Amino acid sequence: MAPEKLEIAPEKLSDLAALVNEAKVYLSFTQNDVKRLNMIAPKIKPHIPKIVSYVVKAIGINKKLVDILENHPLPVETAVTVFEKWLENVLSWNYDEDFAKQAYRIGAAHANAGINSKIMTLTMGNFMVGTSFVVDKMIADKNTTRVFLISIQKAFMLNLTLMLQYYDDIKTEKTLNKLYDAIKR
Ligand code: HEM
Repeated sequence: MAPEKLEIAPEKLSDLAALVNEAKVYLSFTQNDVKRLNMIAPKIKPHIPKIVSYVVKAIGINKKLVDILENHPLPVETAVTVFEKWLENVLSWNYDEDFAKQAYRIGAAHANAGINSKIMTLTMGNFMVGTSFVVDKMIADKNTTRVFLISIQKAFMLNLTLMLQYYDDIKTEKTLNKLYDAIKR
């Protein structure tokens, strides 16, 4: 699929490594968060289809998004499987440079499919809300719930940050190209 198609230049890879580190420091995302995600992953896993169906429902009421999906070769069933696999990854990634690369490529796939950054942010919000419902119902002790939810929320925001970097990069590239064109004239 598209993310494999995107070649990332070596200098961009080091930018992404710097970005993921900066974002982790900013969000106070540490190895403890990774451990908590890994710990709760098997408990959330059986509920992933329910979370994804919550996310897909919101996409389904947006006419523009339905059109994008209908005109894209990716069948809806595959889109559901892709969402489920991605959510599993969110809970199991190590949040290293390889994660940064994958998240950036996912951003690229959507930018190229015509899905804007606002929709990516809102959809991430729905993933976050859906997952929070599930975790909240799953654990009786609310202090424990809070600790896990904080790590989960940080992970979603890290993913979003890396995905949106692609949108920033294409905007910068377009501005630079316009400037070059103006200079050449
Ligand atoms: C937080 C939001 C989202 C996440 C995490 C996400 C996740 C993913 C992932 C992991 C892929 C597979 C990338 C690959 O390996 O090729 C993908 C592809 C795709 N997603 Fe999403 N998605 C999001 C939002 C949306 C929305 C709102 C739509 C609405 C139509 C959408 C439509 C698509 C399409 C059409 C593809 C295929 C892109 C291509 O390969 O050309 N996604 N998504």
